[in-house]
Amino acid sequence: MRTQIAAANWKMNLTLSEAIKLTEEICQQPLALTPHQRVLLAVPFPYLLPVKNILGNQKQILVTAQNVAATPNGAFTGEVSAEMLKSLQVDYALIGHSERREYHHEDSAILAAKVDRCLANNVTPVFCCGEPLPVREAGSQNDYVETQLKDSLFHLPAEMINGFIIAYEPIWAIGTGKTASSKQAEDMHAHIRNVFSKHYGQALADSIPILYGGSVKASNAAELFSQPNVDGGLVGGASLHCAEFTSIIQQLRP
Ligand code: PGA
Repeated sequence: MRTQIAAANWKMNLTLSEAIKLTEEICQQPLALTPHQRVLLAVPFPYLLPVKNILGNQKQILVTAQNVAATPNGAFTGEVSAEMLKSLQVDYALIGHSERREYHHEDSAILAAKVDRCLANNVTPVFCCGEPLPVREAGSQNDYVETQLKDSLFHLPAEMINGFIIAYEPIWAIGTGKTASSKQAEDMHAHIRNVFSKHYGQALADSIPILYGGSVKASNAAELFSQPNVDGGLVGGASLHCAEFTSIIQQLRP
């Protein structure tokens, strides 16, 4: 059974007191997570430690960085390195979110370097991929996503891919209220798994949680998560409200 994951992506939202309140509220919910379920909270850098302190030592709700530097420590003003995340005992980092790719011009080579930095510091990448609308309209989404995966990940040997999380987020569905249909999500997730299988073998491909992101909400989570290759969601807007996010968590497959 693959791990099922509800990952919150707070993006650049919430003040410290709001972040603390939301984390405490989530922790107070009777979530009754099964051994196969995880919750990740991808929070802004200044909140990593306060949120981690509230979560404590439990292993099912885990703090996650939203980004990481492509270089080791050094003269890179404003950057946060994987070494720093490791020193905070932050175990996960989003890499390649479409907002990073678009607004910060992060290309495949930069993302490959970020992945390498994470692996060198025992930080697990949550690697994001997904196509823009014109690519979907042209019907080229499968090739587009395959190239994203190959160019940033396939330099790695299988043992290093082990434990990765992939998030498929069609850009046309992010923050737009327009969700991919469960069939569109399932088709792409099956394709992604097949891409990993061709390169790394079926067993490894079968072990990788593939999350869907793009306007996931309480009202569509069950339908999306019921698809065999959809192993949970990466949730932006709807993760900022405890009741809504809790409902999404509870719709993960057991
Ligand atoms: P959204 O964002 O749920 O607000 O569409 C998802 C994401 O960008 O991770």
